Amino acid sequence: MTDLLNKGNEKINHLAVKGLDIQQADRVLDVGFGGGATIKEMLKLIDMGKIYGVDFSQPMVETAKQKFRRSIKSGKVSIEFANVNQLPFDDNIFDKICTVNTIYFWEAPLVGLREIRRVMKSNGRLVIGIRSADKMKDLPFTQHNFKLYDPEAVRDLLIGAGFNRVSINHHDQDEKFDAVMVTAYLG
Ligand SMILES: C[S@@+](CC[C@H](N)C(=O)[O-])C[C@H]1O[C@@H](n2cnc3c(N)ncnc32)[C@H](O)[C@@H]1O
Repeated sequence: MTDLLNKGNEKINHLAVKGLDIQQADRVLDVGFGGGATIKEMLKLIDMGKIYGVDFSQPMVETAKQKFRRSIKSGKVSIEFANVNQLPFDDNIFDKICTVNTIYFWEAPLVGLREIRRVMKSNGRLVIGIRSADKMKDLPFTQHNFKLYDPEAVRDLLIGAGFNRVSINHHDQDEKFDAVMVTAYLG
């Protein structure tokens, strides 16, 4: 089960990065980077741009600062401790933003999504990677501290937060763990 979940995590992170369609000069943000799988993949795609990661766990932040120390030194990566509710960035600065398997833990998802909207450029793109509530609801580890979402509920939250165009793409619907990409734009 753990192996299956780890493999699934690799895949859902990969799908999110792919869905961002990263260009070499993009300024990209990952909210809740955890082990940093997305940042590692983004580094292969970014040239003149920069990758920013925030996480609300001090141990995750410390580990990532160590893991990506060379890229931090060269100015390609920035890692900060922050809650999605209060991002330490100016308005309208990110071309692409993703957050994978994190929304279940946000205490105020609408506040978090409004904050993401604030820092995203008007022509930017947001990808939220989740596993749907249907697939997760019977798993023992989701019984505490998880708020599970159907993709449609995430779409409704995004529209409530001011995003305009929202699409839902299902992957692995027939597998034990699915992967859903909810993509949103402002324009
Ligand atoms: C299940 S892990 C997912 C990590 C990574 N995105 C991945 O898919 O491998 C959830 C991560 O989200 C972070 N997180 C949870 N709530 C957060 C919040 N309100 N603001 C920022 N990060 C948060 C946690 O600290 C944790 O590192």
